[in-house]
Amino acid sequence: CGIVGYVGPRSAQDTVIDGLRRLEYRGYDSAGVAVVADGVLSVEKRAGKLANLEKVLGETPMPVAEVGIGHTRWATHGPPNDVNAHPHTGGARRVALVHNGIIENFLELRARVEADDHELLSETDTEIVAHLVELQVQSGVDLTTAMQRVCQQLDGAFTLVAVDAAEPGRVVAARRNSPLVVGLGEGENFLGSDVAAFIEFTREALELGQDQVVSMTRDEVVVTDFRGRVVEPRRFHVDWDLSAAEKDGHDWFMRKEIFEQPRAVADSLIGRRTAAGQLQLDEMRLADEELRDVDKIIIIACGTSFYAGMVAKYAIEHWTRTPVEVELASEFRYRDPIIDATTLIVAISQSGETADTLQAIRHARAQRAKVLAICNTNGSSIPRESDAVIYTHAGPEIGVASTKGFLTQLVACYLLALYIAQVKGTRFGDEIDEIMEHLEAMPGHIETVLERAEEVYALAADHAGTRSVLFLGRHAGYPVALEGALKLKELAYLHAEGFAAGELKHGPIALVEDNLPVLCVVPPQGRDHLHGKMLSGIQEVRARGARTICLAEDGDSSIEPYADVLIRLPKVPVLLQPLVAIVPLQLFACELATVLGHDVDQPRNLAKSVTVE
Ligand code: G6P
Repeated sequence: CGIVGYVGPRSAQDTVIDGLRRLEYRGYDSAGVAVVADGVLSVEKRAGKLANLEKVLGETPMPVAEVGIGHTRWATHGPPNDVNAHPHTGGARRVALVHNGIIENFLELRARVEADDHELLSETDTEIVAHLVELQVQSGVDLTTAMQRVCQQLDGAFTLVAVDAAEPGRVVAARRNSPLVVGLGEGENFLGSDVAAFIEFTREALELGQDQVVSMTRDEVVVTDFRGRVVEPRRFHVDWDLSAAEKDGHDWFMRKEIFEQPRAVADSLIGRRTAAGQLQLDEMRLADEELRDVDKIIIIACGTSFYAGMVAKYAIEHWTRTPVEVELASEFRYRDPIIDATTLIVAISQSGETADTLQAIRHARAQRAKVLAICNTNGSSIPRESDAVIYTHAGPEIGVASTKGFLTQLVACYLLALYIAQVKGTRFGDEIDEIMEHLEAMPGHIETVLERAEEVYALAADHAGTRSVLFLGRHAGYPVALEGALKLKELAYLHAEGFAAGELKHGPIALVEDNLPVLCVVPPQGRDHLHGKMLSGIQEVRARGARTICLAEDGDSSIEPYADVLIRLPKVPVLLQPLVAIVPLQLFACELATVLGHDVDQPRNLAKSVTVE
């Protein structure tokens, strides 16, 4: 869910809606706003996308107010309808509250609230918290104390933001295991699930820690723990370019973000080498000694970030000879993994807030493993709780389906692999130089792929009637096949599956029938047998009637007899090929979804950052 709070001279309604629009990628089942004007609380909320709420507010604006909170929801408790939408209020409609997360002891709290003769209107866990806070303020304490007291009774994950009609100039928020950042303005202050909510107005921000409450007025921001002891939060500056949060003439944020990839990859490579040619990762914070002792690496991530992790395994093992496991974050801690102080955990997360990944790193740290985060979002929870961070410099990613986030994660993984190779001495300086030169040439190669976008669009338009698509890859092309299939599921709602080409004959080939489109990621022609084995796989599906769409490098003529459609990729080393090979697959999914009339930026049932387990 997306959460916004504001106090200051601007229109509270407009500022909150503006923030919600920038956070809508976090959830879009329903949306709502509450403002306090002249000691009176007003709440407006609607099921569906933010546009539904905006329409209502356009017809009947809320009173002019200096304090407001807002919410855009990804439903957990109760279906997305008007009643379950946030904000929720207490029984006397004095307190309004929005919430992200899940209150785990809500049944017990609900019984307590109902025993007090309070009638609950919704099926949400949030409404109970609104009642609890209101009971506190009615007993005579201020909103800040009320929030602190209520938080002490809650189990689970939550970000809460509340206003009290009796305390008009103040917004109070709290967080545990769920994101919240403060934006510091001049005579105004902001709250957001992430900085996108307020970068239009201020670049100065505060990172809130675990179990903290923030109480803010126009001129003052005070942070305490749940017991009311004042704490000093970390201040940071946001260097994201605001234009990154605009569509810039593209129909979708996603399409714009696909075209930003050459720049994003270049930005992620800036400043990574010293004048003497040594690799340096500023946020590494792990001593060379500690890295040299690492005897096993486990990469944990979800969704697209997981596929970046799969590519990383090929690169890290090849360049550093250190064994790497890649594991879905949601599975990791439940299988009793074998980890200790010489295990390095690499957590990959674009948002830095994915609850599955966050819980996994906590589990790892509890067993003394070192955790390194690869993350795109400064001020988020995962880097804050890690021993070291490599920030990807993709800028804000708004499209729910990750694109430039993925490419910059790949770059960070390659850099990490080379860095470990440098520290452990498994690769010589000139080998590292050569790979870095290849990496530095990648923005140009990605540009070349983008120049050929029209061919991919035409192909997508041809597939508007398709119900199922298979993707094949080998080696580093295998995760590309998986990610290509994921993009198509997420955006076009098609049955799409990626397979390791060699595994095809062990089962999936039974799916192949006449005219089934099969997208094949062909490895570069090289000295090993990879390329030849891939050609065999392609022939096997073609012999059974598949329509083969092959992504193969420029100059590879051996593929021509077996490709019904050929998409050319620039010549690059096999380990780096994912950086170019995924781009046509992103374009394909984006265009096919557009042709089918789907909302590409906000696909059904998804959210950009899932802060519940
Ligand atoms: C959600 C998004 C995916 C994303 C995944 C992991 O499910 O819809 O696009 O890949 O979370 O997100 P993270 O921010 O941890 O990389």
